[in-house]
Amino acid sequence: MAGKKFPDGFLWGTAISSFQVEMGRGEPSDKTDWWAWVHDKGIKEEGIVSGDTPLDGPGFWELYDEDFRIMREDLGCQSVRLSIDWGRLFPESTEDIEVPVSVDKHGNVYAVAIDESVIEKLSSRVKKDAVKRYREILESARDHGLTVMLTLYHWPIPLWLHDPVACHNDIHSTDRRGWLDNRTLVEFTKYVAYVAHELGDVVDLYNTINEPRIVSEHGYLSGSSEFPPGKYDAGLFLKVMKNLAIAHGLAYEQVKRWDRVSFSDLGPCTVGLVPVLQVFAPYDPDDPKDVATSKLIDYAFNEWGLNAVIHGDYDMNLDYVIQPEEQHPHLVKGCDYFGVNYYSRWKIRHVDKGDVPLENFMLMPCEGDCTDYGWEVYPEGIREVVNWAYNRYRRPIYITENGIADETGDQRNRYLRLHIEKLHQAIAEDGVPVKGYYHWTMMDNFEWSDGYRIHFGLYNVDPETKKRIPTKTVKLYREIVTSNAPV
Ligand code: BGC
Repeated sequence: MAGKKFPDGFLWGTAISSFQVEMGRGEPSDKTDWWAWVHDKGIKEEGIVSGDTPLDGPGFWELYDEDFRIMREDLGCQSVRLSIDWGRLFPESTEDIEVPVSVDKHGNVYAVAIDESVIEKLSSRVKKDAVKRYREILESARDHGLTVMLTLYHWPIPLWLHDPVACHNDIHSTDRRGWLDNRTLVEFTKYVAYVAHELGDVVDLYNTINEPRIVSEHGYLSGSSEFPPGKYDAGLFLKVMKNLAIAHGLAYEQVKRWDRVSFSDLGPCTVGLVPVLQVFAPYDPDDPKDVATSKLIDYAFNEWGLNAVIHGDYDMNLDYVIQPEEQHPHLVKGCDYFGVNYYSRWKIRHVDKGDVPLENFMLMPCEGDCTDYGWEVYPEGIREVVNWAYNRYRRPIYITENGIADETGDQRNRYLRLHIEKLHQAIAEDGVPVKGYYHWTMMDNFEWSDGYRIHFGLYNVDPETKKRIPTKTVKLYREIVTSNAPV
């Protein structure tokens, strides 16, 4: 590596996700759990969600071509990370399209057999307009010279599989229980097979699942219950963690099977998983309870899901020991890379809430160097987590998200510089094979339960005209990207 450069071929990009940016112009996507969640009167009254609607979003569904132009020409990027909204393609149930499903003696789905006839049936059901639009979007990215990294699941799932409000009120009141049930895994596998078959020729890299741990934690183990279905139960958390690890494998298999066409010189298809890796530290390093709880959180949140996907180790009682009945090598299908999302470090405090160790913790409010979101700025962490993940699992890494909530735009340049510097050290000094960096995010967008209050964008968006307005960081990011070096 010459001087302080990143390696040749390093991919620079920005990351976006369908639900957060698409709406605001054109056809809304209103048949998903997330849609129902943020619009439900009761959930709003409980104060779980902001009351904002994705309908006021940046309008990427129509404005994508100009956005890709900005990414390529104004920012100088070579790649884009974006996602497909499952509920746009299949707003109605596909469960009656029968497929052979293999389930082991523990009740785990380990194979879903999809053949041409299933793809044909899915083709007759899919919303043709939505497929057409996704093809236009992906081709437009390609025409602008952007390598495409596609996330198959960045959180909304069809309402016919998950009724989050019913689950929130009483988990036993509905059979639409999302990732708690095998049927969601089977339907997800069909959807993925369809996408790889139909759009594989315009995709380079696939992320199966974005942040399985956040889906599980924010949905099933969060005091503020901000994600659907807003429960607090370590058992449900682990069940969803387990099912998402299995879902990764099922999706991996289908993409490899159905996408045989090269889009770029990266090859026919490369399929990875996107964990969010955070640094966890005891709030009081001298308090043994904080130390033990912080270790447990690190294990459950960072390590558990990767052990499952890579080794087939499902430590269901979280005792750090993998018993024979917790070993499921037949669920391991592959993972070509990790897309690591890195934002912050969290201090953990032990709190006695009951006899379930995983429920006895609190993420302490940030003290000192904090963002608008109350997340600690801890640049060393990006170096720590990529070293940890690579040394332990030996997969190449893309940083698929990193960024800062910063409404004034005064903090972002510093945050970016410091993280890029540390990332460079991880590559140049520690030898970690990091292949790309995607800044979160291109433009201010719908920040889930917090709506538009939170500003992660390199561009602000005028709510009326949808014009993208550059923040101070556009110039800096362009400099980094075009020089392929920390600045
Ligand atoms: C998610 C994004 C989100 C970002 C900032 C990540 O957890 O993948 O969708 O907007 O963090 O909160």
